Formats: sequence, C-alpha cells, structure tokens
Amino acid sequence: MSWFSNFSNSSIGNKVLVSLTGLFLSLFLVVHLAGNLQLLVDDGGAAFNSYSEVMSSNLLIKIVALGLYAAIIAHAVKGILIYVKNRRARGNIKYAVKTGSNSSWASRNMAFLGSLIFIFIAIHMAQFWFKFKFGYMENHPDLTHYDVVVTGFKQTWIVVFYVLAQIALGYHLLHGFQSAFQTLGVRKGKYTKLIQNIGVVFSIIVPLAFAVIPVLVYMDVYPLGAFTVIPGQPLEASH
Ligand code: HEM
Repeated sequence: MSWFSNFSNSSIGNKVLVSLTGLFLSLFLVVHLAGNLQLLVDDGGAAFNSYSEVMSSNLLIKIVALGLYAAIIAHAVKGILIYVKNRRARGNIKYAVKTGSNSSWASRNMAFLGSLIFIFIAIHMAQFWFKFKFGYMENHPDLTHYDVVVTGFKQTWIVVFYVLAQIALGYHLLHGFQSAFQTLGVRKGKYTKLIQNIGVVFSIIVPLAFAVIPVLVYMDVYPLGAFTVIPGQPLEASH
C-alpha cells in the first residue's frame, strides 16, 4: 500500500479528509446561497434563470460539480467510518463521560445530523437537479428553472421540510466548522476564539438564509425587488 492510501485509511487520514471536504462543501454553500438569493429578486425570475443557465451550461462549472458530488460522497462515507470506529472504541458504552465543548449535543450527533442532511440533499436533487438534467425541462418547454423552483416552494410540506433540514444543517455546521479547523491544526492560540466565532455566525446565517428563501417564495414576498416585470411592458421600478 502506498503512503497515501495508508494515510487516507488511517483515523487521522479520515478526519483530515472529512475536514477538507467539509470546508469545500461550506464554500459550495456560500456560492449556492448567493445564486439562490436571486429567487428573491422581484423580476419574474429573470436573474435566477440567467444564473441557472450559466450553472447548467458552463464547462468549468460542470467539472467543479463532479468534484462536489465526489466531496459529498467522501464526506459522508468517511464521516460514517469515523462514527463507527468511535462507537467501537467506546465499546458501545453510551457517552459515559462528557468533556466540555467536545461533548455538545451537536458533536455527539454529527452522524445523525449528517444523515438527515444527506437525505435532504437526495430529495432536493431529485426535486430540481434531476429535473434540470434529465429531460423534464425538454418535456415541459413552457417552463423555466425559476417556474420549477417556485412551484416546488408553493407546497407547504416542502417549505416545512426545507426549514427543518436547515436546522439540522445549522447544528451540523456548528460543530463541524470549528472541528475541521481543529483537525487541520489551525484552531489554536489566538485563532481559537476567532474561528469559534466565525463558525457560530456561519452556522446561523447560512442555514437561516437558506430557510428564509422557500418561506418568502411561499408567501409571495420578493424583498430584493428593485424592478417588477409587467408582461408586454418595459421593466418598471417597484416601491
Ligand atoms: C433555498 C434553498 C435552496 C434552493 C432554492 C436550492 C436550489 C437548487 C437548484 C435549483 C439546484 C439545481 C441546480 C442545477 O442543476 O442547475 C440545486 C442543486 C443542488 N443543491 Fe440546492 N438549493 C437550496 C439549498 C440547498 C442546500 C441547503 C444544500 C446542501 C445542504 C443544497 C445542495 C445542492 C446540491 C449538492 C446540488 C447539486 C449541485 C449541482 O449539480 O449544481 N441545496 N439546488
């Protein structure tokens, strides 16, 4: 076995891989959120559709997307391996000892929270990504990507599901963000407090913004609207 496969199969190797993929996925969340916020622009979907068009046609983005799918799978598989190893090491004794912040509710439930997020991503991708990639749009030429997303968010259970999933995401990030920096050896000395604080802010702001989008679309509230589109007429400023 090579040095790399030895390392990547070791406990520390697993943790480093989960940390690096976790940080990459966090970066994806920020980019994804910035794109999705365009759903809240009051322009009848023009901004979101042109963003979505670039996302599904640009070659570089398609290559990065392959890295993203690999990162999601690696993060999930290695995360589960760490969980299983930890359980075995404890000999199935359930959390007898609590040690400070390392035993927060989130830290003890990372595998559970991660599984919920994985289920969310699977349903979420079936709802939009699969439709955009595999013929649904071709079979419904009158619909845009915006129409598909907005129609989805008009269903109460979908909105509730998205909000609940963002709570799981928030707790997962709350422990995962600072834990990744700790594993990579960055969260020490004068950076400890800074990384903790950035982690807390990130874990609240990002899931909250994701949760707000379906809620506002459901309520037909488009607060980022500088312009409204009146069919057949030029763009008109809204107030
Ligand atoms: C308001 C919330 C969200 C909206 C409106 C939204 C919207 C979308 C849309 C429209 C796509 C299809 C993109 C395409 O194929 O062109 C997509 C893909 C995806 N979304 Fe979301 N998303 C949301 C939240 C999330 C969250 C919270 C996560 C992760 C925890 C996530 C993970 C993904 C992934 C992994 C893909 C596939 C990536 C790709 O191939 O581009 N999304 N999302």
